[in-house]
Amino acid sequence: MVVGVVGSGAMGAGIAQVAAMAGHSVVLFDSNAAALEKAKNNLTATLNKLQEKGKINNATEIIGRFSFAAEMGAFKDCGLIIEAIVERLDVKKAVFSELEKIVNADCVLATNTSSLSVTSIAAACTKADRVMGLHFFNPAPLMALVEIIPAVQTEPSLIPLAKELMLKWGKAPVITKDTPGFIVNRVARPFYGEAIRIYEEGIADIATIDWALTELGGFRMGPFTLTDYIGHDVNYVVTETVFSSFFFDPRYKPSFSQKRLLEAGWLGRKTGRGFYNYAEGAVMPEP
Ligand code: NAI
Repeated sequence: MVVGVVGSGAMGAGIAQVAAMAGHSVVLFDSNAAALEKAKNNLTATLNKLQEKGKINNATEIIGRFSFAAEMGAFKDCGLIIEAIVERLDVKKAVFSELEKIVNADCVLATNTSSLSVTSIAAACTKADRVMGLHFFNPAPLMALVEIIPAVQTEPSLIPLAKELMLKWGKAPVITKDTPGFIVNRVARPFYGEAIRIYEEGIADIATIDWALTELGGFRMGPFTLTDYIGHDVNYVVTETVFSSFFFDPRYKPSFSQKRLLEAGWLGRKTGRGFYNYAEGAVMPEP
């Protein structure tokens, strides 16, 4: 089966790598040519590095499974397309509607949305029963969990097939209902939100909060390191979506500090600055 991936950013490139390593031919498309070129270079470098480390012995073969497309028409022979573009309902709907004009009747369309309604995205399609959520975590090649989210319209028989495929890809799938944030992003909102509120109230600084949660709390990354890693453009928008989708439940309230980072373009690691300043090499300021 040929797998298509729409969006070649952090998630799209990672998902493309997972699918290619599982043996699929993969068509990767991005509307931004520079992003596509970057993904191409990064995927090649990553797979060659995995080979150098002895983790794989067929980097060239895997790299040969990718095609990098400048047009969505390249998706016409795909059996599964996973969308990983910007977290905006209007843009995702437009892409799904466009995809339907290109693909075969039996092609399954999946969204990697973190927080939007899969049902709303499916509603953009004439054949809405082929749409589902397949939510990977960042970095997709390393994180085992995948949330499988049937929309209200999804053909039920597709769900065990999706589960089987994710297991074949070496993932740990979990089926969840189409509700804002599903499982992980819902549980994670108060984790980020309370940490930022503790910082805003002057109770502790960001490095101390991160330190407490990693060294003592057992988390692999503290909330500030993690949101810098995810990117504040993605993370803040997910919080806003979950907050409004739960009818403004204060448990999920977004923070001004994070909003200001987003407005400043301090998106985290990818721009060299977020809660921490990576450009100056001060990756973890002293508490
Ligand atoms: P990103 O910003 O790294 O990449 C998004 C890519 O989509 C960009 O290269 C952009 O050029 C492209 N794009 C935007 N509009 C497009 C369109 N109409 N057609 C084709 N390409 C388009 O974003 P990231 O982090 O990869 O996130 C993508 C999706 O995955 C979002 O829905 C996000 O909520 C979800 N997600 C993100 C996670 C994260 O930790 N960053 C984790 C799990 C899901």
